[in-house]
Amino acid sequence: MHIMRLMPTACSLPRAPVTSSLPALLPTYPPYPFPLLRGAGDRVFDAEGNAYLDFYGGHCVCATGHAHPRVAEAIAAQARELIFYSTAARLPVRDAAAEALLAFAPTAMASAFFCNSGAEANENALKVAAKLTGRHSFVAFRGSFHGRTLLALSATDDPKLHHGYESLLAPVDFLPFGDGEALEQADLGQAAAVIVEPIQSMAGVRTADPAWFRALRKACDDAGALLIFDEVQTGFGRLGTPFAAQYYGVDPDLMSLAKGIASGVPMGALLMNEAVAARLGTGDLGSTFGGGPLASAALLATLEVIREERLAERAARLGQWIRDAVDPSVVTRVHGEGLLLGLRVPGRAKALKTFLQDRRILVGGSHDPEVLRLMPPLTLTDDAVRALLDAIRDFGGKG
Ligand SMILES: Cc1ncc(COP(=O)(O)O)c(C=O)c1O
Repeated sequence: MHIMRLMPTACSLPRAPVTSSLPALLPTYPPYPFPLLRGAGDRVFDAEGNAYLDFYGGHCVCATGHAHPRVAEAIAAQARELIFYSTAARLPVRDAAAEALLAFAPTAMASAFFCNSGAEANENALKVAAKLTGRHSFVAFRGSFHGRTLLALSATDDPKLHHGYESLLAPVDFLPFGDGEALEQADLGQAAAVIVEPIQSMAGVRTADPAWFRALRKACDDAGALLIFDEVQTGFGRLGTPFAAQYYGVDPDLMSLAKGIASGVPMGALLMNEAVAARLGTGDLGSTFGGGPLASAALLATLEVIREERLAERAARLGQWIRDAVDPSVVTRVHGEGLLLGLRVPGRAKALKTFLQDRRILVGGSHDPEVLRLMPPLTLTDDAVRALLDAIRDFGGKG
């Protein structure tokens, strides 16, 4: 009887007509007005062969530049050998990727779990924290972005993204980012974990004092809460050090990674210290595709390129150059570190973004309407930096 009553309701769901004019691909972000066909280094090319300088990096992803020959060859070679096998088998390429990643990470990190995205890395970090502490609420920071799966979304400070899912979200207290006094007054005693982006990218590339991160570490220790660094954007040399943890000299308990990790092949990773790893056993975490052979080969090649081409040093040098040389009559402040930069352009950020796009230079927006973001490939050339600085100067002269 129940089934009989449910069936008509389910079947009466409105259906789009077969001749729907809806696009085949569900819209997510408003795209550039030109489709992209190919990329090389710090450039991408449209269908007419026009080159665009990519200071957006496919949203902070293309760490080694577009189609780096070494990465492309590693993926192709791996594809000829074995495209996929799940974690039911040990794969030398996956083991090697985990070892190389841990060698690049802060020494406190003892074990890696591979998944497929930043949200998934954060979802697992928060889930693990709840299991290990027996607590089921979390602390995050105002302005945060951690992803769109349910726990990651719970820790994301964006009511627009929460809308419609409120009853599904986990309890999260949002503290002001970088505020020492608020941290001192906060009660972390119920929190399974505190999750923080070392630099809040989406919020407008907001930074906090190293002393604040040290205080945060101590507050977590005192309260028995785990500390999670969401290094999805700040990792892989972008700040001038392998990870922000090294930049700030603070060891979190867990680190979530994605974006630049495999130069654009979808991959995420959750790194954990020994105390966490020792309490997780076979079957606690899992993913069919996580750490697949193609992603593992791409990660290995990415780390080799970052090390051999000294991309972290390059990121530090080019970031400092932009900071020192950008026209102050247009950009009143440069936020961030290395090649994760926010240009503050009061009242004219949108106009500058359009101006740069017309000059075939791609940059990102942010939730701060005055801040444009630069998160280019770390292989960015000096010529590209000159072109950006000239274009910004020309925009200043124009207006
Ligand atoms: C800091 C941070 N964390 C997590 C995510 C989510 O990553 P993904 O889109 O791979 O799920 C993002 C994505 O922009 C991010 O910037």
